[in-house]
Amino acid sequence: MLPIARFATGLIMAIGVTLFPASSMLSAQEAADPHAIYESRCAQCHQPHAREFAKAALTLQDGIVTMRSSGAPLELFLDQHPRGLPRADAQALVTQFKAMLETGFLYQDKCVTCHDRASTLARLRLFERDGVIQGRYTYRDISTFLRNHGRLTAEEVDIIMKMFHRQSIPSAPR
Ligand code: HEC
Ligand code: HEC
Repeated sequence: MLPIARFATGLIMAIGVTLFPASSMLSAQEAADPHAIYESRCAQCHQPHAREFAKAALTLQDGIVTMRSSGAPLELFLDQHPRGLPRADAQALVTQFKAMLETGFLYQDKCVTCHDRASTLARLRLFERDGVIQGRYTYRDISTFLRNHGRLTAEEVDIIMKMFHRQSIPSAPR
């Protein structure tokens, strides 16, 4: 590498680390985005989206993501297949599949027409204060809000709230 280029890279890295620690943490999180992992590592041979794959191939047995075909845990299977998938990525995928199976695909069916992925909605628009989830800009109590939003039954509101509670929601400042 040319010295000037090396200097520039070093400078950019230094700026990144000193001025934007939060954004560099964010990109580390995004590296483990399970949708991106699925789309780059699995979709060329399987269904184009993780959700369709999960619907077709997976099921929950006693809280463990298992394969419909063999009944074996997905996590064990992924240790062998496909070769070279890092452990952390495999775990991110399994966690994501589990969340999908637990919500019965409700969020995908009733919310994604208007919203981002649940994880993005949670991260950008919600807050958690003493275990209660609120709108980040509206301060609404979300479990109350959802009774009249998104055409959910009362049971479905509970399912969606449980799903939001599993997401990483920022805490409200005090
Ligand atoms: C290079 C192609 C390829 C890639 C990439 C790939 N797979 Fe597969 N996968 C296969 C083949 C081929 C089978 C066996 C097909 C069959 O018997 O249904 C399979 C089978 C599976 C099965 C078992 C399905 C069943 O019903 O028994 C699972 C689960 C699975 N793959 C998950 C994944 C995941 C998750 C990824 C991404 C991390 C992935 N695969 C990436 C080719 C691939
Ligand atoms: C027809 C489009 C549409 C659908 C479908 C929809 N939403 Fe919304 N949602 C909106 C709009 C528009 C807003 C912002 C309006 C507002 O704040 O009053 C919003 C706001 C929200 C908020 C933020 C509330 C706040 O106070 O900041 C949450 C949480 C939410 N929706 C969850 C859901 C969930 C969960 C579903 C699926 C069950 C869903 N939405 C389905 C359009 C939709």
